[in-house]
Amino acid sequence: MTDPGQLAALRERLTGRRFGLLFVNAAIDRGDLPIGEVPTRMFTEVMITNALSPMRVLESLRGLVVPGGTVAVMSSEQGSVSRNDEPGYELYKAGKAALNQLMRSYATRHGDDGHTKLLLDPGHNRTRLGGPGAPLVPEESVPAVVDVLEAQAGVPGLRFLGRHGETVPW
Ligand SMILES: NC(=O)c1ccc[n+]([C@@H]2O[C@H](COP(=O)([O-])OP(=O)(O)OC[C@H]3O[C@@H](n4cnc5c(N)ncnc54)[C@H](OP(=O)(O)O)[C@@H]3O)[C@@H](O)[C@H]2O)c1
Repeated sequence: MTDPGQLAALRERLTGRRFGLLFVNAAIDRGDLPIGEVPTRMFTEVMITNALSPMRVLESLRGLVVPGGTVAVMSSEQGSVSRNDEPGYELYKAGKAALNQLMRSYATRHGDDGHTKLLLDPGHNRTRLGGPGAPLVPEESVPAVVDVLEAQAGVPGLRFLGRHGETVPW
């Protein structure tokens, strides 16, 4: 996803295909350093992977999504600026907040393309990224996210939603 050449090759390979849903899920986490201790290279890697690259994927592949289809990105409640009132994960939070902001710009620029646009928060899950102490498991959270995607299909505009379909504040 972070390699423009590979993204272009994927776009080329998918020529002629049509999709009802384009959903970018990938992201990385690089630990819990306070921002003043984050090396420049780590900051750049997280921002490129979690904010710039998902948007590049959408811009590159959106033309394959049918009218009335959905473009979505896995965000996180950690990207909510207004809910950021607990310490920790400053870089990851900033990356998801940047993603959300870029998605709003995307939604404005492509406001009349007829696509449903979604940012989704799956909750805190036991994955490599979420860690072994997370309260949720993907086997339950992912089907819930899929239910939200299906329920929102065809609804115009951009929304930031949790796995139960609830609005997450910006
Ligand atoms: N787990 C949570 O508690 C939680 C909470 C809120 C939001 N999220 C979000 O949910 C999504 C999935 O996270 P997860 O918990 O499943 O994390 P994960 O277990 O670490 O999986 C991340 C996935 O992203 C892929 N990936 C990373 N960099 C990539 C790149 N440059 N190009 C293509 N794929 C890349 C990884 O592929 P490889 O295996 O090949 O490296 C892996 O499949 C992320 O957007 C994350 O921010 C997770």
